[in-house]
Amino acid sequence: MSPSAPSHDLSTTKKNLSRTSFRPLQGHRALVTGASSGIGEQYARQLAALGSDLVLAARRVDRLEKLALELEKTHGIRAVAVATDLGRPGEGARLAKAVCLPDQPVTLLVNNAGIGPYAPFLETDVEKHLSTIQLNVTALTELTHHVATHMRSHGRPSYISNVASIAAYQATPNFAVYGGTKHYVRLFSEVIRNELQNTNISVSCLCPGGTYTEFLEKAGQQLKASGHAAMMPAAEVARQGILGMLRNRAVVVPGLLNKIACFLPRLVPTGFGIAVAGIAMRRSVSQVKAQP
Ligand SMILES: NC(=O)c1ccc[n+]([C@@H]2O[C@H](COP(=O)([O-])OP(=O)(O)OC[C@H]3O[C@@H](n4cnc5c(N)ncnc54)[C@H](OP(=O)(O)O)[C@@H]3O)[C@@H](O)[C@H]2O)c1
Repeated sequence: MSPSAPSHDLSTTKKNLSRTSFRPLQGHRALVTGASSGIGEQYARQLAALGSDLVLAARRVDRLEKLALELEKTHGIRAVAVATDLGRPGEGARLAKAVCLPDQPVTLLVNNAGIGPYAPFLETDVEKHLSTIQLNVTALTELTHHVATHMRSHGRPSYISNVASIAAYQATPNFAVYGGTKHYVRLFSEVIRNELQNTNISVSCLCPGGTYTEFLEKAGQQLKASGHAAMMPAAEVARQGILGMLRNRAVVVPGLLNKIACFLPRLVPTGFGIAVAGIAMRRSVSQVKAQP
């Protein structure tokens, strides 16, 4: 880490993450996208427990408002809910403008909102592919540009955590577009991390594998019995993402099986890796009708 980069004393963070008196993020304000469920909700819960104020963003604002109230009460922080549809062009800029305020600076950005329709490329409407790219890539890029510009101008120690996937390492049949978007998120994160290394902003990328959230049913996946082997709870995935972000790790891959899954593709030709990943996927999940 450079001398000017964020410098929390995190030597005891791991064992203290669950202690209520440990509040290293007091004075911070975090914008978490996709905070209405799954990994994003867990980021919000754990950042609040560490003392950070919150801006919770997603479409289901009723859920966000309920969560904001609960976290304010439990942790004595300030939390606001913002309804936003990041699937709409320009919404990343609008969201950043609404929440990046000179007297309430954003110092943490969690770009977590994402979708991943699971089906052969030609069996999915092109509109669905394009909205996946809009949410996973365009909105994330737009939000990062606006929020990081704001962070650089206020100069306080700041962190960005971008949520990719192990699909950022292993291309997989039925996930052509999703895998492409997550490769983008990882490479984008690693490059801007390099460009921002001598500034007040550190950038980390979380690459989860299968995680118990609403993602699977929305993607159109149903777990088979063997599919549970590598699944992780969302709370643990978010915990590792936060630790990695605060410790300035470039990439965080939670879980040993996921680490192996990210390493193996480097050893084999891409086409062979895709074929093997397809077999492994078919053993773990069935393709079903996606839930809205
Ligand atoms: N679960 C997994 O197995 C897995 C594995 C690897 C990576 N990931 C990644 O983890 C991230 C979080 O997913 P999750 O597993 O926690 O799934 P999830 O429970 O379905 O959460 C997705 C979040 O994204 C929000 N979202 C979706 N479309 C949006 C839109 N148009 N505008 C604003 N927000 C939107 C949803 O909120 P609203 O519906 O309220 O808008 C929700 O809060 C995603 O980027 C996903 O790719 C998940």
